[in-house]
Amino acid sequence: MEEEDGGTCLMGCRCGHLRPTKARLVLLASLVLAALTTGHGSITGGKRLVRRLVAPAIVDPRAEKVTLSCEYDLHGQQLYSISWYRNDNALFKYSPSLDHLRGQFFEQPDEPDVRVSPEMSNSRQLVLLGNGDFRKNKRAYEGTYLCEVATEEPFFSDYAVANVTTAILPKSSPVIDGLAPNYNVGEQLDASCLAAPSLPPADLVFYINGRKINEKSTRSERTLHSIGEAATSSRLSVSLRLERHHFNAGTLTLTCRATLPGVPVVGESRSDYTTEKSATLSTSNQRAAKHLTAAGTKIGTSLLFLVMVCYVIVVH
Ligand SMILES: *[C@@H]1O[C@H](CO)[C@@H](O)[C@H](O)[C@H]1NC(C)=O
Repeated sequence: MEEEDGGTCLMGCRCGHLRPTKARLVLLASLVLAALTTGHGSITGGKRLVRRLVAPAIVDPRAEKVTLSCEYDLHGQQLYSISWYRNDNALFKYSPSLDHLRGQFFEQPDEPDVRVSPEMSNSRQLVLLGNGDFRKNKRAYEGTYLCEVATEEPFFSDYAVANVTTAILPKSSPVIDGLAPNYNVGEQLDASCLAAPSLPPADLVFYINGRKINEKSTRSERTLHSIGEAATSSRLSVSLRLERHHFNAGTLTLTCRATLPGVPVVGESRSDYTTEKSATLSTSNQRAAKHLTAAGTKIGTSLLFLVMVCYVIVVH
C-alpha cells in the first residue's frame, strides 16, 4: 500500500511521490488530450474516486455478519476493480472483467477468524461472516480496512480507510451499592460499584466530591458473565474511614466511572459511563460541629471578660 492519503493517481506512478510538478501537469494535459481525442470518458480532474468506506466503528464479535461498503463515483469511467484489505492483507477483489467468476476472491490463511461471503460481496460492498465461535477470537472483525477502487483506460486508483473495533457495550450505567444515606465522621465507608457486562471489561474509578480515591482504599475484581461467556463484569470496592474533609458542605458525593479501554467514543455509542450517589454528614455530627464553633466563641468571650476583669483589678 502506498503511504499517501488518497487522491487519484496514474498508473505507473508511485502515488506518494507524485507532486504537482511541471511534469505532472504535462502528463495530465496529455492524458486530457488523449481522452478527448479518443473519446474515452473524462479524467477525474482531481476529484476523488472514493468518497468513503462505510463501516461500523464498533462491532459485536458475536455478530454473524458485518457489511462494509465502499462509496465511490467513477466520474463516467469504467470500473476495473475494487479491492479490499484488512491490516494490509488482501481479503477480496471484485473485477467486472472476471464476472464469470463473480469477481475474484482471496482469503488470508493467517486470518481464519473472518470469512468473506462471495455471495453477498460485490462491486459496492464486502460482507464478512463470523467464524461461528467468537470465543476463539473475540477480536474477530477488528482491524483497519481499506477499499481501493481502480478504473481502466485511463487507469486511476483511489482508496479510503476505516477502523473497526470489536466490543460489547454495557447495557446500563454502573450501579453503586452499600452507600448509606448519612455518616458520622470516623465511620467506615464500604461501598462497591458494579459495571454491566462488557467486552473489554470496564475500568472502574471512584471519586469522592470529584477527587479520585486513592487506589490503596479500593479493590477491583472481575467476573466473567455466564451468559454467552463474552462479556465480563467489573466490580470495584472501596473501604475507607471517613474524615471531615470527605464532606463538602455536609455532603459526600461518590461517583463511579466506567470506561472501556481502547474503545472509541463514536456518535451514539458510549464507552464512558458514570453513576453518582450522595450521602450527608449525620445531623448529630453537623450539630456537634455547630456546637463546637459556638462553644469556641463562648470560650473566647469569657476569656476576654477574664482579661478585662484582671485589667480592672490590676489598674485599680
Ligand atoms: C485507525 O487506527 C489507527 C491506529 O489506532 C490510527 O492511527 C488511524 O488514524 C485510524 N484511522 C482512521 C481512519 O480512523
